[in-house]
Amino acid sequence: MDLFEYQARDLFEQHGVPVLAGIVADTPEQARAAAERLGGVTVVKAQVKVGGRGKAGGVKVAKTPDDAEAAAKAILGMDIKGHTVHRVMVAAGADIKEEYYFSVLLDRANRSYLSLASFEGGMEIEELAVTRPEALARVEVDPSEGVTLEKAVAIARAANFPAELVEKVAPVFVKLYEVYTAEDATLVEVNPLVLTGGGDIVALDGKVSLDENADFRHPEHAALEDKASADPLEAKAKAADLNYVKLDGEVGVIGNGAGLVMSTLDVVAYAGERHGGVKPANFLDIGGGASAAVMAAGLDVILGDPQVKSVFVNVFGGITACDAVANGIVQALGMLGDAATKPLVVRLDGNRVEEGRRILTEAAHPLVTLALTMDDGADKAAELAAAN
Ligand SMILES: Nc1ncnc2c1ncn2[C@@H]1O[C@H](COP(=O)(O)OP(=O)(O)OP(=O)(O)O)[C@@H](O)[C@H]1O
Ligand SMILES: [Mg+2]
Repeated sequence: MDLFEYQARDLFEQHGVPVLAGIVADTPEQARAAAERLGGVTVVKAQVKVGGRGKAGGVKVAKTPDDAEAAAKAILGMDIKGHTVHRVMVAAGADIKEEYYFSVLLDRANRSYLSLASFEGGMEIEELAVTRPEALARVEVDPSEGVTLEKAVAIARAANFPAELVEKVAPVFVKLYEVYTAEDATLVEVNPLVLTGGGDIVALDGKVSLDENADFRHPEHAALEDKASADPLEAKAKAADLNYVKLDGEVGVIGNGAGLVMSTLDVVAYAGERHGGVKPANFLDIGGGASAAVMAAGLDVILGDPQVKSVFVNVFGGITACDAVANGIVQALGMLGDAATKPLVVRLDGNRVEEGRRILTEAAHPLVTLALTMDDGADKAAELAAAN
């Protein structure tokens, strides 16, 4: 889960990373009040989960509360790379002398952590990485050792910080690493980290991604979720504890096991090419215990997608045998009643497949078609979606 800048700022503050005061505002009037409270020069910043806000006009300096109100008026409602601005942060203005870059992130390819740092900020880091790779230090961080002060000094030196600054930035790197581990983040990035006219190091911007697999350790993270802009179907699936990802297509897909569902998406996309270009509408893995309740919850989410024209249920019976899945489908359709309106193609294979097919054949539900193979099922589902 990616956080907004103001949420990252709050986490930084809790862990002792130096930040400036910031107050969120949802209206120009609130922005004016925030600027009055902060006093002096402020900076009004669009709160969207996308980079390049400054370039897009989403970061404006305000000398007076009047300016802050006007800036908020201009920024609220603005579209930045497809993200509408609903909220701004009014931040205390910094007297910037120099801008630097620091991040620590999960390096999946190397099964390790990686810290990136640069003495040359004020530039987009992606651009710097391409044009002047030597100016961007990449230092592996061993997760079992972490960023100690000694390690932080090594990172700062690798990034070409002069000696007097190494002393100043290294303790801030240590604190930022503390945010990374204590909050179970996969990314903590500060661009820019600045040196002020007064000689202080301050994090002026923050990007944090939290690892949702660690949510059980952080009940407080639930409050950080941006419920307002979540996809309503994904939110519904999440509430039902389903592994669901909405895609842009017409054939709803339900399967058990992530690998089987992924290959089902491929087979449906392939079959769709023969039927007017229909595509899979979602990823949904109902996992091992495909009970009637789980099947009903999954069907409910998929049938709630107005784009869906047909559904392909592709289940391989293992520990959960096909007869249990078949009963689950029949009961789920019973539970959904009139809410089930779209044709279902069901392919069952594996443990107790004969029994499972018999149950579905005997139930003879008008919406259900049985398919013997995965390819046939995908083809039939694509055909039905194209015809609907
Ligand atoms: N509180 C502040 N005081 C003074 N200047 C600021 C402040 N916040 C940001 N700035 C200036 O605005 C620039 C852009 O701000 P920021 O880094 O927060 O947004 P961005 O980089 O454009 O967005 P993103 O990091 O999402 O791509 C900074 O490099 C800095 O020069
Ligand atoms: Mg930035």
